[in-house]
Amino acid sequence: MGTPARTGAPVTLTIDGFEVTVPGGTSVMRAAAEAGLSVPKLCATDSVEAFGSCRLCVVEIEGRRGTPASCTTPVTEGMKVHTQSDKVQKIRRGVMELYISDHPLDCLTCAANGDCELQDAAGEVGLRDVRYTPGENHYDPTTGHYRSQSDARWRGPEEANPRYIPKDDSNPYFSYDPSKCIVCSRCVRACEEVQGTFALTIEGRGFESRVSAGMAGDDFLSSDCVSCGACVQACPTATLQEKSVAEMGTPNRSVVTTCAYCGVGCSFKAE
Ligand code: FES
Repeated sequence: MGTPARTGAPVTLTIDGFEVTVPGGTSVMRAAAEAGLSVPKLCATDSVEAFGSCRLCVVEIEGRRGTPASCTTPVTEGMKVHTQSDKVQKIRRGVMELYISDHPLDCLTCAANGDCELQDAAGEVGLRDVRYTPGENHYDPTTGHYRSQSDARWRGPEEANPRYIPKDDSNPYFSYDPSKCIVCSRCVRACEEVQGTFALTIEGRGFESRVSAGMAGDDFLSSDCVSCGACVQACPTATLQEKSVAEMGTPNRSVVTTCAYCGVGCSFKAE
């Protein structure tokens, strides 16, 4: 489901008691932003179409069953939306708990520390405790394998898990660390929608899901990747990380520049 087009007649709705009027086709998330209200999110950004995969932006809408994703739900006239009800806050904490339970907890030494949307979202939803012990819930004693990449990293030598996927350092400008990936697909969509390259895809399902560059066994350097950096800019964690940032830390200033590579005119942040 893509981002609704904001082309319709003005629509007035109420979000958390605030009345807001936006063009028809606007998403509930964007309408909330225009009302000055923040809805937690991980898979949505302004630069790629909404996808509705992370489920962190769920809201309640009066008269409607369930808790739809606000990023992919278009506004309707008279809609009454609640973004901070007990129910949605509980759902968000549960979702975040699952993300964190399958993520390395090396924040203090991670290159994205302080610039990590997963870290920010955990604070935003008020996550204070994770009930699931990393690894324990994912170890399959019948096969002797861990069911996620990050578990394998925490639980011993890489050889202990035949499914372990090593970090990909083949690209000279950035690295890819699958253990930190939350499979939000922002990189895949940025590659397609911003650069038009289609070098990335998601392969596998469930714990097997991972971002893949090209055919199985390909690394970034041997794929169709043109090193434009759109995927790195889109990544909310340290999964795709500029090598200069990893080695020297986050720069204290950045400029937006226009790439002259293909003539499309994409703008990128240069640091
Ligand atoms: Fe809406 Fe991820 S931000 S589902």
